[in-house]
Amino acid sequence: MTYDNIKNESYARADITPPGGNPFPHKHLLGIWGLDPAEIKYLLDCADHYADSNRQSGKNTKTLAGLTQINLFFENSTRTLMSFEIAGKRLGMDTISMSTSTSSIKKGETLLDTALTLNAMRPDVLVIRHGDSGAVELLSRKVDCAVINAGDGRHEHPTQALLDALTIRRRKGHLNGLTVAICGDVTHSRVARSNIWLLSAMGARVRLVAPPTLLPVNATSMGVEVYHDMTAGLAGADVVMMLRLQQERMSGAFLPSLREYYKFWGLTHEKLSVAKDDVLVMHPGPMNRGVEIASDVADDIDRSAIQEQVEMGVSVRMACLDILTRKQREEEVGP
Ligand code: NCD
Repeated sequence: MTYDNIKNESYARADITPPGGNPFPHKHLLGIWGLDPAEIKYLLDCADHYADSNRQSGKNTKTLAGLTQINLFFENSTRTLMSFEIAGKRLGMDTISMSTSTSSIKKGETLLDTALTLNAMRPDVLVIRHGDSGAVELLSRKVDCAVINAGDGRHEHPTQALLDALTIRRRKGHLNGLTVAICGDVTHSRVARSNIWLLSAMGARVRLVAPPTLLPVNATSMGVEVYHDMTAGLAGADVVMMLRLQQERMSGAFLPSLREYYKFWGLTHEKLSVAKDDVLVMHPGPMNRGVEIASDVADDIDRSAIQEQVEMGVSVRMACLDILTRKQREEEVGP
């Protein structure tokens, strides 16, 4: 079953309008699900441009000067929060990050009241991370500005999938036809879900490689191939994407022990030897070295693209901020 089949059979998202003259006709970026390949390509092309300019000395611009970005993170983050901040600043935005540990959330203010309070300050973009699947979409219906989902529960993490795709595309030249093995804790991973939708939409073959306890029950209906063995799952792969074992989202026993997990599912050079010679190793971070990935694989400069993923994170987030504020910037300038 292809991405298009699945998309058409399931619900059509309310905030998605069909592509027309505007290459990205969406107010928000809530997920990859529902985006067209042309829209994904548009985001990646724009991010690619920023990736090049970010390597130049004059990389700071005033493109979005005068606009305000608020980052509202209800879950911990290093890479995503920092790169959203840097992306906004690099485009000249006023960027503010709200720490939920020092805000009125600690005094019992609800998620919705917090969002409405921030909305009243008239930001142009709200970047939200929340532990509940669907929370970001709910908030997007209540505020006036553009909303970017920086990860909601196990649901989606669209900018991570975009930065992963950009990293692959810059290394391999294309996404179409590549075999990508996504390995490990798929059940708890929003990164996996967004990547499955994006890579399938762009014509890659996606394999999920995990023990049955760490795979969602509907895995086979997601248009992917499922493997319960690393050797079979990694054979001939162009890209191996490792996932963190998300113990904070686990209640009960999903695995016997970390040692056993590493033995069967941890990525080592030996397990990787069945993949293509030029295989790309990826991990969204934060990494558990010695649990899902061996240190010497993570640090292998010939194969690991993990630091490049972080670099591409800034470019992708610049592209998202730029594209989602274009309409309002055009309106302000007038015809
Ligand atoms: C991921 C996340 O938060 O979903 N991290 C990230 O954004 N780079 C993956 C993870 O936490 O394991």
